[in-house]
Amino acid sequence: MGIRIAPSILSADFANLEAASASVTGADWLHIDVMDNHFVPNLTIGQPVVESLARVSKQPLDCHLMIEDPDRWAPGFVEAGAASVTFHVEACHAPVRLARELRSQGARAGMALKPATPVEPYEDLLGELDMLLVMTVEPGFGGQSFLDLCLPKIRTAREMIARHGGDVWLQVDGGVSAETIERCAEAGADMFVAGSSVFGADDPDAMVAELRRLAEQ
Ligand code: DX5
Ligand code: ZN
Repeated sequence: MGIRIAPSILSADFANLEAASASVTGADWLHIDVMDNHFVPNLTIGQPVVESLARVSKQPLDCHLMIEDPDRWAPGFVEAGAASVTFHVEACHAPVRLARELRSQGARAGMALKPATPVEPYEDLLGELDMLLVMTVEPGFGGQSFLDLCLPKIRTAREMIARHGGDVWLQVDGGVSAETIERCAEAGADMFVAGSSVFGADDPDAMVAELRRLAEQ
């Protein structure tokens, strides 16, 4: 199982996202948090910024859409250059149709679950997905504390993926740091989003390497 580290630019300097990407050359992906001030009480960036960043980023872009009506908006993020687009199941009207559309555009399709959303009802959808995102904080802000109550869900999701047999990545996002990443990896996660722990570090690239080392142990 490969380990993938995806620093979240939510904790980077929005005035210089190209430098943020260049500061984490050891990262596998760059995680972009798109928020609409409706699905979550925060507003961040949209398609034009993703389009510009896609032109200069050293890493492929992993767009996490915390927005209402992803059915309508998600395909535009593939057009903007995202290699992976994740929608929230709580906001999506037709997850199967949307996942198929994203894949037909050539992107990876991800589906995210908030901490209170159970994973069990979605086992039959795994064949339509490239990634499952188990949120380990309530979405909306960086720098929140990791919710240990999400660990059993990561385990359940890993068991479901093993049963299903497909190559579905299992991402965790929220409060992931050198203190918490081992718990996530032990529970079965293989893709790790980290915002404040990476961009708040003196040496972001060294932190990426450290997170990878801990996750691989
Ligand atoms: C929160 C976002 C996260 C955020 C994580 O809603 O989805 O990607 O950037 O930030 P940290 O790692 O600081 O919890
Ligand atoms: Zn995110």
